[in-house]
Amino acid sequence: MLTSYFDTRIKLLDTAIKEYFRYEQEHPSRLFQAIKYSMFSGGKKIRPVLFFATFEMLKKNDEIENLKPLLPVAVAIESIHTASLIHDDLPALDNSNERRGQPSCHKKYDPATAILAGDALLTKAFELLSFYDDKEVAVNLVQLLCHAVSTRGMIGGQTVDLLSAHKNVLQLNVLQYIHAKKTGTLLEASVRMACACAKTDPSTTHMLATYAMNLGLAYQIIDDILDDVGDFETLGKEPYEDIRNHKTTYPTIMGLDKARKMADKLLDDSYKIVKNMKHNHILIEFLKMIKDRLP
Ligand code: FPP
Ligand code: MG
Repeated sequence: MLTSYFDTRIKLLDTAIKEYFRYEQEHPSRLFQAIKYSMFSGGKKIRPVLFFATFEMLKKNDEIENLKPLLPVAVAIESIHTASLIHDDLPALDNSNERRGQPSCHKKYDPATAILAGDALLTKAFELLSFYDDKEVAVNLVQLLCHAVSTRGMIGGQTVDLLSAHKNVLQLNVLQYIHAKKTGTLLEASVRMACACAKTDPSTTHMLATYAMNLGLAYQIIDDILDDVGDFETLGKEPYEDIRNHKTTYPTIMGLDKARKMADKLLDDSYKIVKNMKHNHILIEFLKMIKDRLP
């Protein structure tokens, strides 16, 4: 069920990405090729699909047509995510040569092009938000996405992550800070942005934001576990990257078993949040999808 939900929403999203970027016609072509390469490198597009799913749950919508006004927002979310991964892989950051089983953007092109492609995607995202029809909501969307990217969000988390490398094993609260900021805030923002578009009440928004943050933390714990036990095929890149980069992971702090239990608990807490909401089936499927990544 989730597969067909994903397929239909991603098809809509991909058409909108092509429309908003028009890679083939734009100049300078190398920059647009790098953007296209990264936007269509086999990512699961979890964040925009979660954005759609939350909106559809709140509006009790099944009609794909009704998602069209949301497209600039969904593309903005995916652009930010892609920008963050391009920059994350750079030699000055994680120095990853592969992403999703293919050369990372700076390996396929070069570091300068990768930096500029990330900058272009980051800027484009905020332009796209300004296209949203209801301008009062658009301002709110800009604030929500800025917060997710900001020093209090992904950039802050990434900074602490880099400063923490080569240190002895980190405290659990520092590790949780890193992941909440690096991964959790964009998922949380995707859901908050859906709530803003659906004009949801603050209490439901708060509950759904917690659902998304837990989902992000569980995703990250499972990523750490996979880095320890996965292979190139499952990961789309070489395993043991965290060890090579001297990064503390959940398994390093608490062992694989406890890390697994922690991920389970977060997903269960999220389940409790949505289980009594109407039209919740896709948000429940999301939790299953994250859990199923565990080997
Ligand atoms: C991947 O983490 C990286 C992130 C989730 C966020 C990276 C954030 C930035 C580079 C700052 C924000 C920048 C912009 C342009 C928005 P990971 O290295 O743990 O996971 P991986 O194995 O997928 O690389
Ligand atoms: Mg990385």
